[in-house]
Amino acid sequence: MSEDRMNLSCDCCWLKPWAFYAEGSTRFWVHYGLVIFGFVLAGITACVQCCKPAPYGRHEGEDGGLVPKIPLRLSHMMSDALPGVVMFLLVFFLYGSVRSYQNYVFLVLFLLHYVHRGIIHPLVMRYKSSWVYIGIAIGGFIPNCIYHFINADFISSATYASHYYYDPRFILGIILYLVGFVINRWADWKLRSLRNTKGVPDGGSDYNIPYGGLFELVSCPNYFGELVEWTGWCIATWSLAGLVWLLFCAATFVPRSRHNHLWYKQQFELYPPNRKALIPFLF
Ligand SMILES: NC(=O)c1ccc[n+]([C@@H]2O[C@H](COP(=O)([O-])OP(=O)(O)OC[C@H]3O[C@@H](n4cnc5c(N)ncnc54)[C@H](OP(=O)(O)O)[C@@H]3O)[C@@H](O)[C@H]2O)c1
Repeated sequence: MSEDRMNLSCDCCWLKPWAFYAEGSTRFWVHYGLVIFGFVLAGITACVQCCKPAPYGRHEGEDGGLVPKIPLRLSHMMSDALPGVVMFLLVFFLYGSVRSYQNYVFLVLFLLHYVHRGIIHPLVMRYKSSWVYIGIAIGGFIPNCIYHFINADFISSATYASHYYYDPRFILGIILYLVGFVINRWADWKLRSLRNTKGVPDGGSDYNIPYGGLFELVSCPNYFGELVEWTGWCIATWSLAGLVWLLFCAATFVPRSRHNHLWYKQQFELYPPNRKALIPFLF
């Protein structure tokens, strides 16, 4: 593995993300082959999701036919905790080899998101249905494995400049990541509170109009927060791995937020007319 990596003695090599792997080496091709595949997959995802929203939650529909279902909470853990926590840690510690504070900061940030998303979130959220099509789990698991592999590979291989902690990219990226994290957590928590189980025997499966905070501006602040998070990640890690993951998330969130927004308008006559779908005042 170490033969495959360039010996980065200069402090400016981190300006070029591709310089972290010896050009033409196995590691270079594995990493950038997957990055290229990731760009293609993000494009395909955007097209597919624009045509039809993924069939879970409010868009589940009835057209699953004979497709088997699995428990929803298990599905989220499979598709998010396995790649985002277990695989990420294995790649970081077994495959990567650079160990400075920047690498650990990025590891902690990524785990902060995925321990919540892959373990806590599925356990605490109040879902309409306890079952989901197995395709949703697989459709989340496979892309997550690809994108999380390249991100873990990058942040455990990159040698950042020793003074990177006061680089504007590091500072701005981390601020954006944390702001997005808080927005995402707050919005999901707010949605959870719309299903107040007190005195509701089935746990409450209705949808209500969310009000307050960023919900006054957009229908899906949870997606908006996550987009801000990965924008921060992309800037702070300064990597193509971060960029392609951000594009994949956008390929999911942009069309789905539009579908959710239209769904709200159809369901609720009194839905606030000035609210946008995903990005305040713009979209
Ligand atoms: N990185 C990625 O590619 C990616 C992809 C998808 C999601 N995510 C993240 O995963 C999290 C959940 O995503 P999601 O697509 O499941 O979000 P969602 O559709 O907004 O639903 C989130 C939760 O809130 C409930 N809910 C939503 N709107 C509601 C309303 N108006 N009234 C009552 N309950 C409502 C949902 O119940 P039901 O399930 O019963 O509808 C679900 O339990 C988000 O933080 C998102 O950012 C990430």
